[in-house]
Amino acid sequence: GYDAGPWVPARGGLAALRRAAADCRGCPLYRDTTGTVFGEGETSARVMLVGEEPGDQEDRRGQPFVGPAGRVLMRAVDEAGLDPAQAYVTNAVKHFKFSTGERGKRRIHKPPTLREAGACRPWLDAELRLVDPEVIVALGATAGKSLLGSSFRVTRERGTPLDGPHGARVVATIHPSAVLRADDADREAAYAGLVSDLRTAATLLT
Ligand code: URA
Repeated sequence: GYDAGPWVPARGGLAALRRAAADCRGCPLYRDTTGTVFGEGETSARVMLVGEEPGDQEDRRGQPFVGPAGRVLMRAVDEAGLDPAQAYVTNAVKHFKFSTGERGKRRIHKPPTLREAGACRPWLDAELRLVDPEVIVALGATAGKSLLGSSFRVTRERGTPLDGPHGARVVATIHPSAVLRADDADREAAYAGLVSDLRTAATLLT
């Protein structure tokens, strides 16, 4: 089955992981992308933000959360009293999954399957082992399921600190792209909810 495990080096730091991840063939998603989008940040980071998968701009630039959802996220992180520069930022799945529209120009984001997220989990585990964050923020359902299991539901579990992998606490919240997708009437409340959950994560830092 799909599994990134064989590509994950047994030793070395984040730089070694990043280099190895560039060649990952653990699932078929690498085929149509520009490249692997690995996590970014310091091993000293106390907070890890975990998204779903890179988007179009992230795939082009090779960095997580540098597109529209990233702008929403970083504004919310800052407003919640967390230092965006002190957070390690990554995704549950490290390649962009998309379909191409009729004329083959626009790349339309597709959510990863549980299988693809499971295949990519060894990379997230390796990041967790090296960064060893105190608090993990799961952004949306894919990150939540990857970190907490397939029965995870955002609506039920968001905003409540939970025990997560590697001894970390996990706070789940909505994905920042849900703020962008919300109707005009709902957008402000969705954003406020994101900030509120991130504040909860900030209070867990002792
Ligand atoms: N959405 C994500 O989940 N991750 C990114 O890096 C960008 C958009």
